Amino acid sequence: MGLWCALHILLCIGFLLNECVGLVLFPCRATLRLDMSAAASSSVRDADSVRVQVVSDFACPWCYVGKARLGAAIEAFERSSTSDGKGRARVQVSFSPYMIDPRTQPGGEEYLVYNKRRWGGDGWTASLKRSSKKDGCDFAKWETWPNSLLAHRLQKFADSAGKGDQVNSLVFQTIYERGGNASDLETLVSLAAEAGLSPAEASAYLSSREGEEDVLQDDHTAKTELGVTGVPCFIVRGTGGRESGSGTPDDAVGGGSVGGAGQSEIVLNGAVAPDKLLRAFESVRRLG
Ligand SMILES: *[C@@H]1O[C@H](CO)[C@@H](O)[C@H](O)[C@H]1NC(C)=O
Repeated sequence: MGLWCALHILLCIGFLLNECVGLVLFPCRATLRLDMSAAASSSVRDADSVRVQVVSDFACPWCYVGKARLGAAIEAFERSSTSDGKGRARVQVSFSPYMIDPRTQPGGEEYLVYNKRRWGGDGWTASLKRSSKKDGCDFAKWETWPNSLLAHRLQKFADSAGKGDQVNSLVFQTIYERGGNASDLETLVSLAAEAGLSPAEASAYLSSREGEEDVLQDDHTAKTELGVTGVPCFIVRGTGGRESGSGTPDDAVGGGSVGGAGQSEIVLNGAVAPDKLLRAFESVRRLG
């Protein structure tokens, strides 16, 4: 240990005079630890600094609004972070499926039929449309209430091809702005093509039962382990937190707990305003 320390000191004097002050003042091990933590925190600044796990359902108009607000928050965050001198900050988004009403007919249901059965009518949509107009959500053509299993499977397929975000937005657009049927395989295949995915591969995937078990398992995990009772639900984490390097976002879902959130994890329930999301990004980034 003594010889190793002396060698290290010599090397330091040769190359990095400043850091050697620490070596002389502190025991070798402590200094090494300090060096390592300094290196770790500086690399965090250049990496994706915020991760958002979006737990949501396509058969959920508020989730569509929530996605639009998330987009606005990410844009504002990335814009402001390029001018704050701390380096580029990015937001990495992952999607976790949630099925509010798995008993919806497998092919989905007509808009008014579903609304009448669930709520006696669609009067409740007036305030939804009023408050989301400014977010760019018009609900211009909304004709079906989908069973969302097939669309969640398409999301899994798109995630694995790096097109998760595009496909997520397109599915919402299809249901709420284009009068599309998101329980229909052909509709979803053309939407996959629109996102730049191979329509043949998307069709083969959706025609099989691939991804179905994953969707059902994630839905179950969200409702039990994560304790999510309403969607959208945004779980915001820094990259330097305890989940750092723990694998895919899906692993983090399985192991995490919304209730026992650590310091670098913020859970936001509902289609919260962009500025609230923005504040959450900034605060986990500071902790990062
Ligand atoms: C949606 O598409 C499915 C599959 O093609 C079909 O069975 C169902 O009737 C359609 N739903 C509506 C509400 O049109």
